[in-house]
Amino acid sequence: MKVAVIGTGYVGLTTAVSLAVKGHQVLGIDVVKHKIDRLMQGQSPIYEPGLDQVLKQVLEQENIFFTTRLHEAKEAQVIFVCVGTPEAANGEADLTYLHAALQEIEELHSQAPVERVVVIKSTVPVGTGDHAASRLCHCADLHVVSNPEFLREGCALEDALQPSRIVVGADSQKAMNIMKEMYKGISAPWVETTRANAELIKYASNAFLATRISFMNELARLSSEIGTDVSTISQGMGLDSRIGPQFLRAGVGYGGSCFPKDTIALLNLAKRHGVNLSILEKVREVNATQPLWFLEQLHKQMPDLYGKRIALLGLAFKPDTDDIREAPSLTILDALQRSGALIVAYDPVASNHVKELFPDAEYTSTPEAVFQGAHAALLVTEWKECVELDWAKIMEMMEVPLLFDGRNAWPARALEEAGFFYKGVGRS
Ligand code: UDX
Repeated sequence: MKVAVIGTGYVGLTTAVSLAVKGHQVLGIDVVKHKIDRLMQGQSPIYEPGLDQVLKQVLEQENIFFTTRLHEAKEAQVIFVCVGTPEAANGEADLTYLHAALQEIEELHSQAPVERVVVIKSTVPVGTGDHAASRLCHCADLHVVSNPEFLREGCALEDALQPSRIVVGADSQKAMNIMKEMYKGISAPWVETTRANAELIKYASNAFLATRISFMNELARLSSEIGTDVSTISQGMGLDSRIGPQFLRAGVGYGGSCFPKDTIALLNLAKRHGVNLSILEKVREVNATQPLWFLEQLHKQMPDLYGKRIALLGLAFKPDTDDIREAPSLTILDALQRSGALIVAYDPVASNHVKELFPDAEYTSTPEAVFQGAHAALLVTEWKECVELDWAKIMEMMEVPLLFDGRNAWPARALEEAGFFYKGVGRS
């Protein structure tokens, strides 16, 4: 099928590339010209494992092209809208880019009125799809579908090619059939519903996953007081098939472009309708305080951080991405800086972004180097290279062998036996 994808961020680019892999003729569209130039050369503007390689492959096969002009997509039967919906100042989703995309689609359709489906993949407030449909209702043969994505950064391609489910909200069988044709070859449970339900499924899924994390983070705080081990607790809980093992890892809190933004957007949506999602309020509160709670563990051992050399391992909001949006590392850096600590940090790919915000911290090019002369070391993001370390060498390098494991990923017992002071999240 001929497909156009508006927006070449995480969602758009991954969607475009995965559909090209499945044999569709895809046109990726973005307003940023230098992004398009790079993409045409097979260079992904985002850091996503494996994406560059697959992008080059589909470019060679001529299944994908990129342009700044939607007008080149006159023949497209399906147009995906994958533009950003950032958090506005009032906490609601900012739909400026979405409205601009709809306007362009309207113009394109008036020039080339073929039967086509507009698929809203961006995460949008409930009701946006219906609103778009009424706005475009004068365009004959144009259907609006809500089809949220559930991809995770770091495994975006895998999630797009083997999704946990495909949720399609539509109000016409014709549109539904076109969507089925487009996703033919991708095997996943198929949820057919209304546009509003599809939109809420996305928000509710992210909010629920965030809830699990905050629940475990609170249990970690309790574990820390009563001497239980939250890692073992989550393992024991996760074996119950009604609970399942995922998203039960306590840590320094969740970050990223989705959980923080989507939970506040859902709260605001509910408020506008007179409903208080009180559990979700608490989820956000726990998450906001979790990095600070983690730092309290350091303060207990070292009340005065002034002039102390504190090592941070991992800055991205999670491994395998250079994304630092809402990363817990930023809260930690800010608090440490205020305490007068000398910060030395390492991240395999995100340091440059963090350097812009915290130019006074020192950034190393290897994970080992952060330990040199350090009075304490904190694991913030569990990159493989920040976890698998030569601890005997590190023992010699550190000024004081204090380790604070914000992801419960370092080998606690072995480290204690080697003479380190070790403190995890909700485990002693
Ligand atoms: C998330 C959703 O998983 C995805 O379906 C949606 O489309 C976008 O938002 P992403 O933000 O890429 O994906 O990351 P994810 O892997 O979900 O992790 C989010 C945050 O939660 C990270 O900061 C991670 O470190 C944290 N996390 C995750 C925990 O603290 N504990 C866990 O058990 C799992």
